[in-house]
Amino acid sequence: MNDIIEKAKEYVKDLAGNEVTGHDYYHAMRVYNMALYLAVGKDVDLDIISLAAILHDLDDKKISEKGSKRVETFLNQHVDKMNSARILEIINNMSFSDQIKGKTVESMEGKIVQDADRLDALGAIGIARVFAYTGKTNRMIYQNSIDDDSAIAHFYQKLFKLESLMNTTEAKIIARKRIEFMNKYLKEFFSEWR
Ligand code: ADP
Ligand code: NI
Repeated sequence: MNDIIEKAKEYVKDLAGNEVTGHDYYHAMRVYNMALYLAVGKDVDLDIISLAAILHDLDDKKISEKGSKRVETFLNQHVDKMNSARILEIINNMSFSDQIKGKTVESMEGKIVQDADRLDALGAIGIARVFAYTGKTNRMIYQNSIDDDSAIAHFYQKLFKLESLMNTTEAKIIARKRIEFMNKYLKEFFSEWR
């Protein structure tokens, strides 16, 4: 399976190597490394975790065309039907928007990848990703409100909610630390704003 994991990394590098909204190859690699860390000591399938983490954003509507099937294309070529289904089940149910629609990730492997992806939306990198995505979608940094569609408003509307949604204890601990940093950042931001 190790060679297939390497192939998946190459595939994501080719297709999302220079994606500019924070769903790029390096995001996939951070999620992969964090997921392996969160998996330590747990009785889980590391191959499923690895492939789900590496491939998870390739067909995300933020970076690909509607109906894009790049993940399935890869899995059909390299992974048997049963494992493909386990990986797709994770990728198709793990996002924040999926959760709002009532979808849940049932497997422990999925819960770990979901936590790893969410941790990358927090902390210093999380802050960078919010601004990158906001700029790319022609929205403002801030406009004196936390109820509109600005980057700063997104902290309150989504990012700060992620801590309580973490599945694993380890991820909750890292989330807490990263959110403390974001609060420090906001304190400074608002003091400069005034
Ligand atoms: P998920 O996979 O949980 O749905 P997203 O793909 O929505 O997560 O988010 C990925 C990254 O894009 C996060 O870092 C997030 O902060 C950023 N992002 C998503 N939606 C917005 C938004 N409306 N405004 C600013 N940043 C956003
Ligand atoms: Ni992601």
